Amino acid sequence: MLRAESLCKTYGRGAKAVRALSEVSLSVDAGQFVLVRGASGCGKTTLLLTLGAMLAPDSGRVEVGGTDPYTLNDEARAGFRATRLGFVFQQFYLIPYLNVRENVACAAVKGTNGGGDGRVEELIARFGLEGRLEHRPAELSTGEKQRVALARALLNRPRLVLADEPTGNLDEANAQTVVKALKDYAREDGAAVLMVTHDPRWEAAADRIVCMEYGRVL
Ligand SMILES: Nc1ncnc2c1ncn2[C@@H]1O[C@H](COP(=O)(O)OP(=O)(O)OP(=O)(O)O)[C@@H](O)[C@H]1O
Ligand SMILES: [Mg+2]
Repeated sequence: MLRAESLCKTYGRGAKAVRALSEVSLSVDAGQFVLVRGASGCGKTTLLLTLGAMLAPDSGRVEVGGTDPYTLNDEARAGFRATRLGFVFQQFYLIPYLNVRENVACAAVKGTNGGGDGRVEELIARFGLEGRLEHRPAELSTGEKQRVALARALLNRPRLVLADEPTGNLDEANAQTVVKALKDYAREDGAAVLMVTHDPRWEAAADRIVCMEYGRVL
Protein backbone atom coordinates (compact mmCIF):
# COMPACT_ATOMS: atom_id res chain seq x y z
CA MET A 1 0.00 0.00 0.00
CA LEU A 2 2.84 2.36 0.91
CA ARG A 3 6.33 2.24 -0.45
CA ALA A 4 9.11 4.76 0.12
CA GLU A 5 12.52 4.41 -1.42
CA SER A 6 15.70 6.28 -0.46
CA LEU A 7 13.95 9.44 0.72
CA CYS A 8 16.25 12.37 1.42
CA LYS A 9 15.19 15.77 2.71
CA THR A 10 17.37 18.67 3.84
CA TYR A 11 15.90 21.87 5.27
CA GLY A 12 17.81 25.13 4.73
CA ARG A 13 21.21 25.66 3.20
CA GLY A 14 24.85 26.08 4.04
CA ALA A 15 25.65 26.34 7.74
CA LYS A 16 21.91 26.18 8.58
CA ALA A 17 21.25 22.98 6.62
CA VAL A 18 19.54 20.18 8.57
CA ARG A 19 19.39 16.74 6.99
CA ALA A 20 16.01 15.56 8.26
CA LEU A 21 15.70 12.39 6.13
CA SER A 22 18.63 10.37 4.96
CA GLU A 23 18.05 7.45 2.57
CA VAL A 24 14.82 6.37 4.26
CA SER A 25 13.16 3.29 2.75
CA LEU A 26 9.99 1.80 4.15
CA SER A 27 7.02 -0.33 3.07
CA VAL A 28 3.69 -0.81 4.79
CA ASP A 29 1.19 -3.42 3.59
CA ALA A 30 -2.58 -3.12 3.55
CA GLY A 31 -3.94 -4.07 6.97
CA GLN A 32 -0.76 -3.18 8.86
CA PHE A 33 -0.56 -0.92 11.91
CA VAL A 34 2.99 0.41 12.18
CA LEU A 35 4.51 2.66 14.85
CA VAL A 36 7.27 5.20 14.22
CA ARG A 37 9.47 6.01 17.17
CA GLY A 38 12.59 8.07 17.82
CA ALA A 39 14.03 11.04 19.71
CA SER A 40 12.70 14.54 19.19
CA GLY A 41 14.12 16.04 16.00
CA CYS A 42 15.01 12.70 14.37
CA GLY A 43 12.69 13.33 11.39
CA LYS A 44 9.40 11.61 12.24
CA THR A 45 7.10 14.49 11.28
CA THR A 46 9.19 15.18 8.17
CA LEU A 47 8.75 11.54 7.18
CA LEU A 48 4.97 11.68 7.65
CA LEU A 49 4.68 14.92 5.68
CA THR A 50 6.73 13.41 2.86
CA LEU A 51 4.69 10.18 2.81
CA GLY A 52 1.51 12.27 3.04
CA ALA A 53 2.03 14.16 -0.21
CA MET A 54 2.58 17.43 1.66
CA LEU A 55 6.37 17.82 1.40
CA ALA A 56 8.32 16.70 -1.66
CA PRO A 57 11.56 14.88 -0.87
CA ASP A 58 14.79 16.20 -2.43
CA SER A 59 15.33 12.74 -3.85
CA GLY A 60 13.80 9.30 -3.58
CA ARG A 61 10.35 8.05 -4.34
CA VAL A 62 6.98 7.68 -2.57
CA GLU A 63 4.17 5.43 -3.80
CA VAL A 64 0.73 5.13 -2.25
CA GLY A 65 -1.37 2.39 -3.82
CA GLY A 66 0.91 2.50 -6.86
CA THR A 67 0.74 6.29 -7.40
CA ASP A 68 3.63 8.68 -6.82
CA PRO A 69 1.84 11.83 -5.59
CA TYR A 70 4.78 14.05 -6.50
CA THR A 71 4.29 13.30 -10.20
CA LEU A 72 0.82 14.93 -9.99
CA ASN A 73 0.13 18.65 -10.41
CA ASP A 74 -0.94 20.65 -7.33
CA GLU A 75 -4.67 20.22 -7.90
CA ALA A 76 -4.46 16.49 -8.59
CA ARG A 77 -2.19 16.04 -5.58
CA ALA A 78 -4.68 17.88 -3.34
CA GLY A 79 -7.43 15.56 -4.61
CA PHE A 80 -5.20 12.56 -4.00
CA ARG A 81 -4.60 13.66 -0.39
CA ALA A 82 -8.28 14.31 0.22
CA THR A 83 -9.50 10.96 -1.11
CA ARG A 84 -6.68 8.50 -0.41
CA LEU A 85 -5.04 9.80 2.76
CA GLY A 86 -6.22 10.46 6.30
CA PHE A 87 -4.31 12.63 8.79
CA VAL A 88 -4.52 12.86 12.56
CA PHE A 89 -2.35 15.36 14.45
CA GLN A 90 -1.53 15.99 18.09
CA GLN A 91 -3.19 19.44 17.86
CA PHE A 92 -6.43 18.21 16.14
CA TYR A 93 -6.77 21.18 13.70
CA LEU A 94 -10.56 21.34 13.87
CA ILE A 95 -12.29 24.31 12.26
CA PRO A 96 -13.40 26.51 15.20
CA TYR A 97 -16.59 27.94 13.68
CA LEU A 98 -17.99 24.57 12.53
CA ASN A 99 -19.83 22.18 14.84
CA VAL A 100 -18.95 18.50 15.26
CA ARG A 101 -21.13 17.26 12.42
CA GLU A 102 -19.80 19.95 10.06
CA ASN A 103 -16.17 19.37 11.06
CA VAL A 104 -16.50 15.73 10.03
CA ALA A 105 -18.71 16.30 6.98
CA CYS A 106 -16.47 19.04 5.55
CA ALA A 107 -13.87 16.40 4.65
CA ALA A 108 -16.30 14.76 2.20
CA VAL A 109 -15.12 14.86 -1.39
CA LYS A 110 -17.53 14.92 -4.30
CA GLY A 111 -17.45 11.72 -6.31
CA THR A 112 -16.35 9.56 -3.37
CA ASN A 113 -18.48 7.85 -0.78
CA GLY A 114 -17.30 10.30 1.91
CA GLY A 115 -20.35 11.36 3.88
CA GLY A 116 -22.65 9.16 1.82
CA ASP A 117 -24.72 6.31 3.30
CA GLY A 118 -24.86 8.05 6.67
CA ARG A 119 -21.13 7.62 7.17
CA VAL A 120 -20.78 10.96 9.00
CA GLU A 121 -23.34 9.90 11.62
CA GLU A 122 -21.96 6.35 11.78
CA LEU A 123 -18.43 7.59 12.59
CA ILE A 124 -19.68 10.19 15.05
CA ALA A 125 -21.63 7.46 16.87
CA ARG A 126 -18.70 5.02 16.68
CA PHE A 127 -16.59 7.54 18.60
CA GLY A 128 -19.31 8.27 21.14
CA LEU A 129 -20.03 11.84 19.98
CA GLU A 130 -23.70 11.50 19.03
CA GLY A 131 -24.65 13.74 21.95
CA ARG A 132 -22.27 16.50 20.77
CA LEU A 133 -23.37 17.02 17.14
CA GLU A 134 -24.07 20.74 17.51
CA HIS A 135 -21.07 21.52 19.74
CA ARG A 136 -18.20 23.60 18.45
CA PRO A 137 -14.58 22.61 19.19
CA ALA A 138 -14.26 25.18 22.02
CA GLU A 139 -17.17 23.41 23.77
CA LEU A 140 -15.53 19.96 23.64
CA SER A 141 -13.07 18.19 25.91
CA THR A 142 -9.59 17.43 24.57
CA GLY A 143 -10.40 13.75 24.06
CA GLU A 144 -13.65 14.61 22.28
CA LYS A 145 -11.76 16.92 19.91
CA GLN A 146 -9.37 14.16 18.93
CA ARG A 147 -12.27 11.75 18.34
CA VAL A 148 -13.85 14.32 15.98
CA ALA A 149 -10.51 14.60 14.15
CA LEU A 150 -10.36 10.81 13.89
CA ALA A 151 -13.88 10.61 12.43
CA ARG A 152 -12.93 13.29 9.90
CA ALA A 153 -9.73 11.44 8.94
CA LEU A 154 -11.59 8.18 8.27
CA LEU A 155 -14.57 9.68 6.44
CA ASN A 156 -13.42 8.99 2.88
CA ARG A 157 -12.10 5.50 3.73
CA PRO A 158 -8.46 6.49 3.09
CA ARG A 159 -6.04 3.77 2.03
CA LEU A 160 -3.25 5.30 4.11
CA VAL A 161 -3.66 6.93 7.53
CA LEU A 162 -0.84 9.01 9.00
CA ALA A 163 -1.10 9.93 12.67
CA ASP A 164 1.52 12.22 14.28
CA GLU A 165 1.50 11.72 18.06
CA PRO A 166 -2.30 11.53 18.11
CA THR A 167 -2.36 10.50 21.78
CA GLY A 168 0.13 13.15 22.92
CA ASN A 169 -2.49 15.38 24.58
CA LEU A 170 -4.94 12.70 25.72
CA ASP A 171 -5.81 10.93 28.96
CA GLU A 172 -5.48 7.15 29.23
CA ALA A 173 -9.05 6.25 28.19
CA ASN A 174 -9.10 8.52 25.14
CA ALA A 175 -5.61 7.46 24.11
CA GLN A 176 -6.74 3.81 24.22
CA THR A 177 -9.79 4.67 22.10
CA VAL A 178 -7.68 6.41 19.46
CA VAL A 179 -5.07 3.64 19.20
CA LYS A 180 -7.73 0.92 19.06
CA ALA A 181 -9.63 2.83 16.36
CA LEU A 182 -6.50 3.19 14.23
CA LYS A 183 -5.58 -0.46 14.62
CA ASP A 184 -9.14 -1.64 13.91
CA TYR A 185 -9.28 0.58 10.85
CA ALA A 186 -6.12 -1.05 9.46
CA ARG A 187 -7.56 -4.51 10.09
CA GLU A 188 -11.15 -4.01 9.01
CA ASP A 189 -10.73 -1.63 6.09
CA GLY A 190 -7.40 -3.06 4.92
CA ALA A 191 -5.64 0.29 5.11
CA ALA A 192 -2.01 1.00 5.95
CA VAL A 193 -1.74 2.97 9.21
CA LEU A 194 1.42 4.71 10.43
CA MET A 195 1.44 6.27 13.90
CA VAL A 196 4.23 8.35 15.43
CA THR A 197 4.44 7.96 19.19
CA HIS A 198 6.82 8.39 22.10
CA ASP A 199 4.71 6.15 24.28
CA PRO A 200 5.99 2.57 24.73
CA ARG A 201 2.52 1.45 25.88
CA TRP A 202 1.32 1.09 22.29
CA GLU A 203 4.15 -1.13 21.10
CA ALA A 204 2.25 -4.32 21.91
CA ALA A 205 -0.56 -3.24 19.55
CA ALA A 206 1.77 -2.69 16.58
CA ASP A 207 2.56 -5.10 13.76
CA ARG A 208 5.95 -3.43 13.39
CA ILE A 209 7.96 -0.63 14.98
CA VAL A 210 10.09 1.66 12.84
CA CYS A 211 12.89 3.27 14.86
CA MET A 212 14.46 6.48 13.58
CA GLU A 213 17.70 8.21 14.57
CA TYR A 214 19.21 11.34 12.99
CA GLY A 215 17.03 11.09 9.87
CA ARG A 216 17.64 7.39 9.30
CA VAL A 217 15.53 4.31 9.83
CA LEU A 218 17.47 1.87 12.03
N1 LIG B 1 10.56 23.78 8.31
C1 LIG B 1 11.77 23.48 8.80
N2 LIG B 1 12.85 24.25 8.50
C2 LIG B 1 14.07 23.94 8.97
N3 LIG B 1 14.35 22.88 9.76
C3 LIG B 1 13.33 22.08 10.09
C4 LIG B 1 11.98 22.34 9.64
N4 LIG B 1 11.17 21.37 10.11
C5 LIG B 1 11.96 20.54 10.85
N5 LIG B 1 13.25 20.96 10.83
C6 LIG B 1 14.40 20.27 11.47
O1 LIG B 1 14.43 18.95 10.94
C7 LIG B 1 14.66 17.98 11.95
C8 LIG B 1 13.54 16.96 11.95
O2 LIG B 1 12.33 17.60 12.38
P1 LIG B 1 10.97 16.80 12.63
O3 LIG B 1 9.94 17.79 12.93
O4 LIG B 1 10.76 15.89 11.48
O5 LIG B 1 11.35 15.94 13.92
P2 LIG B 1 10.45 14.97 14.82
O6 LIG B 1 11.14 13.66 14.88
O7 LIG B 1 9.04 15.00 14.34
O8 LIG B 1 10.54 15.66 16.27
P3 LIG B 1 9.43 15.75 17.46
O9 LIG B 1 9.42 14.39 18.13
O10 LIG B 1 10.00 16.80 18.37
O11 LIG B 1 8.13 16.12 16.86
C9 LIG B 1 14.78 18.76 13.25
O12 LIG B 1 16.16 18.83 13.59
C10 LIG B 1 14.21 20.13 12.96
O13 LIG B 1 14.90 21.13 13.66
MG1 LIG C 1 7.26 15.67 15.16
